[in-house]
Amino acid sequence: MAVVMTNTLTILGIESSCDDTAAAVVRQTGGALPEILSSEVFGQNALHAEFGGVVPEIAARAHAEKLDICVENAIAESGVPLKELDAIAVTAGPGLIGGVLSGVMCAKGLSAALGLPLVGVNHLAGHALTPRLTDQVSFPYLMLLVSGGHCQFLVSEDPETFKRLGGTIDDAPGEAFDKTARLLGLPQPGGPSVEQAAKSGDPKRFAFPRPLMDRPGCDLSFSGLKTAILRARDALVAEKGGLTEQDRSDLCASFQEAVADVLAKKTARAFEAYLAMNPQTPLLAVAGGVAANQTVRARLQEVCAKHAVEFTAPPLALCTDNAAMIAYAGLERFKLGKSDDMSLAARPRWPLDTRAPALLGGGKKGAKA
Ligand code: KG4
Ligand code: ZN
Repeated sequence: MAVVMTNTLTILGIESSCDDTAAAVVRQTGGALPEILSSEVFGQNALHAEFGGVVPEIAARAHAEKLDICVENAIAESGVPLKELDAIAVTAGPGLIGGVLSGVMCAKGLSAALGLPLVGVNHLAGHALTPRLTDQVSFPYLMLLVSGGHCQFLVSEDPETFKRLGGTIDDAPGEAFDKTARLLGLPQPGGPSVEQAAKSGDPKRFAFPRPLMDRPGCDLSFSGLKTAILRARDALVAEKGGLTEQDRSDLCASFQEAVADVLAKKTARAFEAYLAMNPQTPLLAVAGGVAANQTVRARLQEVCAKHAVEFTAPPLALCTDNAAMIAYAGLERFKLGKSDDMSLAARPRWPLDTRAPALLGGGKKGAKA
């Protein structure tokens, strides 16, 4: 049963599904623009750097160690006394199980101690609802989630209904950026370092593949790209004994161009399906770390302009993992009269659209969501 909102809701959100320990307080009064009263993020990049990727056990231990201080900071920063909170929202999946469990246990402890309702949130719903937190976008809207672990086109219909139009059948684009950086000896996370190197590169020097273009629909594939980069790198090394700075920049620019091109063309395909169902609300929202990439953003804006579709991208801090999106997604569920009890389970896998067929490799274990 839907609860009629006339008053103020203040929600604490907790996020620990990958390598960011985060806590935030979000408040909404009636139908006004929600306010982010605080948003704390403790990243773990330094802990995982030497391993070239997120190590689940190290991540889980760091979450367990940092969650209480993170929550304490978020509460202090918000200026909201614990007794004024209305509910505790927490990411209950999908993600690395040790981290998700740490967050869920922390939230259950707070909920029991404070006598507050507990609201389990799907991490992907957090990303997908962010345009409503930042811009009060109305349902329905088309969402492109492009992160280190996911790449999907979703129609956001209501706070709990997301229809997947298509997605990656193997790697996520962020993962491809990270692997490309690794292959070229650039630092992690790969996205920003590849983007930086690409600035002085020639995007046309290498003709990297644009997979699945001959297939109808908006499914994508990125795993062939890393093989292509590997081959191009090895060919250069065999020819000249090594890579010059210019070679590296050209490889990065050509790779980035291929990713941006594929995303833009598949977005145009997603528009066909989306606009046929929702001609009244032509809007594309993007979220996820890859949405920070200027070339990708520019290409998406271009394709939106061409199809007369409005484009919105949340500020970067709300595109990447954070707890404000979890608090807000929890607020939306809570407004619908939904909450969980102490049986709330931590779920490593939790597709947003349970009706859609499972993707072959989308959202792999251990990948960031
Ligand atoms: O959204 P995010 O912080 O974490 C999740 O995956 O949820 O995204 C991280 C991913 C990493 O793979 C990172 O390399 C990529 O986003 N990324 C970028 C850029 N900044 C971060 N990819 C391309 N260009 C960027 N500027
Ligand atoms: Zn995420």
